[in-house]
This record gives sequence, structure tokens and C-alpha cells, in this order.
Amino acid sequence: MFYSEDLVEDVRSRNDIVDVINSYVGLKKKGNTYTACCPFHNEKTPSFHVSRDKQLYHCFGCGAAGTVYTFLQQYENYTFPEAVEFLADRAGITLPRREMTLQERRDADYSSALKEVNKAAAGYFYYALRQKNGEAAMHYLTGRGLSEETIHRFGLGYSNLYRDDLYQYLKQKGYDDRLLMDSGLVRFDERQGVTDVFWNRVMFPIMDLNGKVIGFGGRVMGDGLPKYVNSQETRIYEKRRHLYGFHIARRSRRQGFILCEGYMDVIAMHQAGFDNATASLGTAFTIQQAMLLKRYTDKVYLAYDSDGAGVAAAQKAIPILREVGISARVISLEPYKDPDEFMKNLGADAFEERIKQAESSIMFQVRIAAGHYNQQDPESRTRFQQEAVKLLAVLQDPLERDNYIEAVAGQYFIDKKKLTDSVNRYGKYMTEQKQYQEAVKEEKPQDIRRQERVRQRKQQPQRLLLTWLVNYPNELFPQLRGRIGPEDFMDPLYQALANQLFHQYEINGTVNPAAIINQYEEADQQEQAASILQTTLQLEPSPEDNSMVITEIVRKVKEESLQHQLTHLQDYNKLQDIIRLKGQISDWNISLTCG
Ligand code: GTP
Ligand code: MN
Repeated sequence: MFYSEDLVEDVRSRNDIVDVINSYVGLKKKGNTYTACCPFHNEKTPSFHVSRDKQLYHCFGCGAAGTVYTFLQQYENYTFPEAVEFLADRAGITLPRREMTLQERRDADYSSALKEVNKAAAGYFYYALRQKNGEAAMHYLTGRGLSEETIHRFGLGYSNLYRDDLYQYLKQKGYDDRLLMDSGLVRFDERQGVTDVFWNRVMFPIMDLNGKVIGFGGRVMGDGLPKYVNSQETRIYEKRRHLYGFHIARRSRRQGFILCEGYMDVIAMHQAGFDNATASLGTAFTIQQAMLLKRYTDKVYLAYDSDGAGVAAAQKAIPILREVGISARVISLEPYKDPDEFMKNLGADAFEERIKQAESSIMFQVRIAAGHYNQQDPESRTRFQQEAVKLLAVLQDPLERDNYIEAVAGQYFIDKKKLTDSVNRYGKYMTEQKQYQEAVKEEKPQDIRRQERVRQRKQQPQRLLLTWLVNYPNELFPQLRGRIGPEDFMDPLYQALANQLFHQYEINGTVNPAAIINQYEEADQQEQAASILQTTLQLEPSPEDNSMVITEIVRKVKEESLQHQLTHLQDYNKLQDIIRLKGQISDWNISLTCG
């Protein structure tokens, strides 16, 4: 422990959790607890609860939970000692100044030690870039148009040709092998012994919010492969949580952020005066990164590469941004490949112009969708219109929605009235689903009738799915494999029915509802089971519409199941998997031929 347990406890007890959290998110008193919309995920009705008695917080939506310390670690990205220091200061407690040996300090806080190692390495690379050996690297960077000042501002460096010079340097500074392995800067293998991970590359230090180095990207000078070697993840370096250049971008006086794909893009943008540019770390943009951006702004410009991969990445990022309440705009870099090339060729004024012309994410999505369909072929055109309907229905604000409907109708020659009707119908369906989801979260034990209504609404997708399964087993079961199973039916009766249907299909290649009903002894259970299994479906006129309906139902059931897993999460390591799955559901498409 950095500070003694008693001291940590003393500091905690003198900082009431309600007061502290209230200074970040406005809390409302509700009975014995205080509630707010959760700062760790996006929501419209509050499921974030803080208890004064227990001095704990918990979010029923995303599962975030802990003490006043964990809150600050999550919200402010503080290390534990930083959180203690912050709260001690807040309560007017003077912490003992500690003189620590290196070893003590290392034991005390492994994260700080990892940061120290990274900082030492960054210094070493920075120095190496300016030595005789580093001339080629410096030449490479200046050759790419980077100024001395930019190179300095981003702390760029060079990793030498020697196989273990960084290792020797860090070792001589007193860091032990274990820590150095864990830092991801050196590695051990049987034949070579300990060697540096980065070797003859220009080095991009990656920093956290506070400008502390937490990892590196190393680029080959020229065309070799792999182009980049990146630090592995460590306790302090989680790629999904950090953004490149963000320690500068978050202080920018420009409006919003410009999200790029690569390190070099960010650097080129900053050099051109766009110091609000940032990028994910060689990995796909995540919801955690979106939430980080959202703390500062709700305006984000996407400046992704203009090639296919860049467009695909932008399409993935848009819904993630929307999820946290950011409606992105997409910057066109045509005819250039990326912001770096654009800047070199057309410069800052032209880019400023492109920002002004940036396309709303909806129009971008509709335009990309349009490209996938043949507008001359009626069937293909119908499917495009369905896509467009779904995209437009996401817009909540009626005025905004109407404006975009008008724009899309005009641009793609769709009847505005028809389009409006479809969008509103689909939007209504989505809203109802959402309301019911939020209602489920709010369940009040005393309000039994309401609870019952909620329960019925909650089960409706499960019930419908059972009915569909009985009616179209051959089309549905194969498509559901690996996506959804009986365990995803949350209601006990429906789960039992699902178990039997899945089992029957697996054994016999078909289903036999009657055999199931016979197994129930209680009359009312028989009745309930029968009513589900015998329901005749109301089909939509076209297979496409039916496909849309069943797809929605399947997603709904799975979402419910995942939400349940989230709120009953025991193992926080699973959080990522569940969130990832949640993200994938929206890509599911079930197709039916009936109609
Ligand atoms: P330049 O090609 O020098 O302009 O670099 P860039 O940063 O613009 O890279 P690019 O647009 O090709 O790639 C975007 C990001 O993906 C990079 O910044 C890296 O984070 C990551 N990346 C690219 N290539 C590799 C690779 O070979 N390995 C790994 N691990 N990551 C890569
Ligand atoms: Mn690039």
C-alpha cells in the first residue's frame, strides 16, 4: 500500500460519496438513495444509484459499482494513490510525505512503476533520435514534413539497432526484469535471452489523459513490414480506453474533436493547427472512447481514410458515437487518402472548408447504403429504402427527422409521404421497445399491476419468437445456431418451452408442439403453452418485411438476455464480452421466404 490502510479509510470516511459524486453528476434524492443518469454509459432515465448509508454506488444498467475511490478511478482515470490524494486534499487532510526507496515504491504501486518505466523509455528514445545513430530516423520524420517543434511536442523518438540497449539502460536504472517484461518493452525467449521489443523504428509514445506515457507505437522507416509494432496491453495501457493525442486535444479551444485513424494523421493535423485531432490506437473505435469524448463535447468529425477500409471503419464508429449521444459528421478527404496527405497537398484552409462541408452521419450512411443497391431493380431498391428507413428512424428529434427525410426523399427520388410513414412506423416500434426496456429497469415492487404489464411486454419478444419457431422451424433454427439458445429466454415457462423445441429440432430435425403440451400437468400451464405454440402468426405481405420483423424479435430476445447478464454480472471480466456481443447484435439479419 502506498498509504496505510487506516489513512485510506480515514480519507474515505471524511468524503461523503453522495457529495463527491454530486459534484460530477447531479444526483436526485429518491427515498434512501440518490440517482442520476449513469456517467459510464448512455441512458435517458437514471439507473445509477448512490447510497449514503452504504457509501457505495451501483448502476443497474451497466453494472458499474464501487466506492468513492473507484468512482474517481473510473471517472477521472486516477490511479488509486491519485484518488487518495485528491480526496485528502478535498477534506483538508495533509498526507504524510513519503521518502521511498525504489523497491518500496515499486511494491507500493505497480501502475506508477509501469508509468515510470515507460517514461524512462520515452526519454531514452527521444535522446536516441538526436544522436548520430538517430540521423536516419530524424531524416525520415522531417522527410514526412514534421517540424522540429511537432517532433518535440509528440515526444517522438527512435529505437536503436542494438538488440538490447534499452533493456540494459532500464536495468541500470534499477528496474527489475519482472517489471520490464510486464511493461511490454522487452521480451524473453529461450534462444535470444532478453531483447528489446522495438528495434530500429521511429517511436510514438502513447500518453494518457494527463500526458503520462503508457505505451508506444513503433513505425518502420520506409516500406518494411510490419508497418507498426505496438506495445502490448498492460495494466496501465488499455487500448480501448485511450486515444492518441488526447492529452492535447482535450485542451484544444477548437470546437469538437476530429477523429482520425492513424498516429501520423493526428500529428499532421496538429501541426496544421487542428490540435483537436485524436485517434484510436490501431484498434477499432470503442464505446469507452466514445464516452471519453462525450465528457468534453458532443461534436465529433470523422476524418477516416477515404478508402474502403476507412469507410467501413467510419460506419462502425458512427453508431458507437450515437450510442453516447454524439451525432458525428464525416469529412471528405477526396481525392486524398488520409488527413496527412490532404494537409500536404491542400493545406489547412482547404481542410477548414471540408469541416464546414462535412456530411451528417445519417446522409453519409444513406449514401453508402445506396451504393450497395441497384436503384434500377425494384426489389433491390425496396431493400435500400428499408435500410434508409432504419437509419432515419434513429433520429429522435421530430424536426431533425423531418429534415433528413426530406433530404433523403429528394436525393433518392422516394415519395416523401411514404417515406415519412415508414420511418414513423418503424420509429414508433423502436420507441416502444425502448420505453419498455427502461420501464423494466424502473420496476417498483409496490406497483404490481404495472409490474405485470411490464412483465408481459418484456416477455413479448420471447413469446413471439417461440411462435415463429413453431411455425418456421426449418428456416429459423439453422439461422439461430450459435446466436441464440434456450438459455436466452428469461421467463421460466418460455425457457422450458424453448428447451424442448430446440431439443426436438436437434433430435428430429423438426418440432412437435403437441408432444410438448402433453408434458404439462397443470391445466393452466397447458393452456399457456398451448396458446403460445398454437398462435397463428400475422404475416406481413412481403418476405422482406417478415425478415425485418423476425430479425427485430431475435435481437430483442438476445438483448434482453445480455442486459440480464449485465445487471447480474458477477465477473467483471465478462463485461467486455457482453458489450461486444451487444454491439454485434445489430449486424444480425435473419431472412425468411414467407409472405
Ligand atoms: P503512415 O502510413 O505512416 O501515414 O501511418 P498512419 O499512422 O497513418 O497509419 P495507417 O493509416 O496505415 O494505420 C492507422 C493506424 O493503424 C496506425 O496509426 C496504427 O495504429 C495501426 N497500424 C497500421 N499498421 C499497423 C501494423 O502493421 N500493425 C499494427 N499493430 N498496427 C498498425
Ligand atoms: Mn496514414
